[in-house]
Amino acid sequence: MKKEIVLTGITTTGTPHLGNYAGAIRPAIEASRNENVQSFYFLADYHALIKNHDPGLLKQSTKEIAATWLACGLEPDKVVFYRQSDIPEIPELTWILTCMTAKGLMNRAHAYKAVVQENEQKGKKDLEEGVTMGLFSYPILMAADILMFRANKVPVGRDQIQHIEMARDIAQRFNHHYGNHLVLPEAVVGKETAVLTGLDGRKMSKSYNNTIPLFLPEKKLRKMIMKIVTNSLEPGQPKDPDSSAVFQIYRAFASPEETAAMRGKFEEGIAWGAAKQELFEYLNAHLAPYRETYNRLMEDPAYIEATLKKGAEKARAISVPFLTQLREAIGFSPIA
Ligand code: TRP
Repeated sequence: MKKEIVLTGITTTGTPHLGNYAGAIRPAIEASRNENVQSFYFLADYHALIKNHDPGLLKQSTKEIAATWLACGLEPDKVVFYRQSDIPEIPELTWILTCMTAKGLMNRAHAYKAVVQENEQKGKKDLEEGVTMGLFSYPILMAADILMFRANKVPVGRDQIQHIEMARDIAQRFNHHYGNHLVLPEAVVGKETAVLTGLDGRKMSKSYNNTIPLFLPEKKLRKMIMKIVTNSLEPGQPKDPDSSAVFQIYRAFASPEETAAMRGKFEEGIAWGAAKQELFEYLNAHLAPYRETYNRLMEDPAYIEATLKKGAEKARAISVPFLTQLREAIGFSPIA
């Protein structure tokens, strides 16, 4: 039986946070243990270049994210784990796909539209201020990531579904012109935990600056959890779990039974301080063993680098011949 291909990437900007873990890393690693699945996980550093123009930061983030995935239990021998910029076939495919992509399709991309909207709200004259072609055509690069490895399933956060739809559109256009070479991917979004609430009650996201880093030292983790915004209800007053970041985060880590028990405590009026303490203890117990491995890996970047290089070799064993096939299909083959 042919294995199903599951692929996902994490942009190497910033430090991995609880939202990345609950929404992407944990489900991806779980899926990679399924024998019927071949998983591809990569560090999306070409994507990071859209926002991050600091070489030191880019490197640091790549190191942190690679260490995070390995520490969380990714088995590099079982999966294909690589750095996007080690695969030169990806930018080549990106260009080919760029020529298959309607500009109008990109005009509708959320990430681009959000910047234009912000400029509008700020009363800027130039609505495209701050928009590079990298940002504008970001979904095409993402399509190349996915289509290069013939991914069937792409686990992503809800905000990325549109990009997967676009990858399908682009693949269909390619196949229409050149034959059925590209596989149409499907987005897979985890249900309740896919979007985690951040410190301020909005979605946990690097862009809102409201994240809780995954591997904070214990004391700092506690301090940060104590900072989660709550309302002014007193101990003893019933609290609504569903609108509480404390509960949302707890639920993303705890079992259904534990979550139900916590819901009960909220309804009975647990004090905010006590609820946060429980969240801290739960998270800390869950994360401590991973944190230890993470710290050890961060001290051994040569191991991380060697692991990524091995991953790139495996990835290129696929991308090089596949790109040759695509080049032939589009007419880039010897003329004699
Ligand atoms: N754009 C994704 C994000 O911000 C990261 C990403 C890049 C990705 N390429 C991908 C995810 C390919 C899935 C598949 O989360």
